Amino acid sequence: MSRDELSPLGECHRDVLASMYGGEPQLGEDGQRHPIDATTRISVAEGMTLHGLCVAAGATSLLEVGLAYGFSTVFLLAALEKAGGGTLVSIDPFQATDWHGIGAGHARRLVSRSPVLAPGSFSWVEDRSERALVELERAGRCHDLTFIDGYHRFDDVLVDFTLAARTCSPGGAIVLHDRWLDSVEAVVSFVRNNRGDFEEVPTACENLGVFRRTGDDGRDWSHFVRFPLR
Ligand SMILES: C[S@@+](CC[C@H](N)C(=O)[O-])C[C@H]1O[C@@H](n2cnc3c(N)ncnc32)[C@H](O)[C@@H]1O
Repeated sequence: MSRDELSPLGECHRDVLASMYGGEPQLGEDGQRHPIDATTRISVAEGMTLHGLCVAAGATSLLEVGLAYGFSTVFLLAALEKAGGGTLVSIDPFQATDWHGIGAGHARRLVSRSPVLAPGSFSWVEDRSERALVELERAGRCHDLTFIDGYHRFDDVLVDFTLAARTCSPGGAIVLHDRWLDSVEAVVSFVRNNRGDFEEVPTACENLGVFRRTGDDGRDWSHFVRFPLR
């Protein structure tokens, strides 16, 4: 990774990402630095695409499923910075246990140093997405962009999309990560063929599935269109 690729981001966000992509041990909530693995992350190109989608849409209410070390989180917070404010909710039941609180720590420090983000701009929900997403709907939340990068089994991703769609703002977007997996690609194909209330948005990143909400879910009770798995 070259720092030039991150040049559209602010300095604080660039510094955090350069350290993480550089493979440096990261600060956990226990005050210790922990080695990080090189696979649990989005790529720089994917992060910049995610960031660009948010900035282009002027998105200010963001949601992500799957926080881990917080690569995607930093790109999303950088977009809120450009929007002049907003909120990011990150759902992850294993942030404290598997990831030492690294992603949430980065997010909190970036918000606390930000000249434009209010203290409550970032919140971490320590619960499984299928429960947390229902609670967000119950709370009347609307999200301009949702990034889904949690548990990657077909049924889990489909549930995440289905529930996230209920809190998606009109014109808002849902982005699925890891299309290289058959499980995720099958969800992309299901949405493409069955969710007439979303249109697919092409991007340069073939590993991302991007859908924009264009209407309401008007399918009747028995609606089903067969779809290819890839
Ligand atoms: C691939 S990692 C996310 C990487 C992150 N988006 C990034 O770019 O740095 C997947 C994350 O999903 C979380 N996860 C696993 N099961 C989950 C569930 N049921 N609900 C929400 N998150 C879950 C894991 O703890 C892990 O942090």
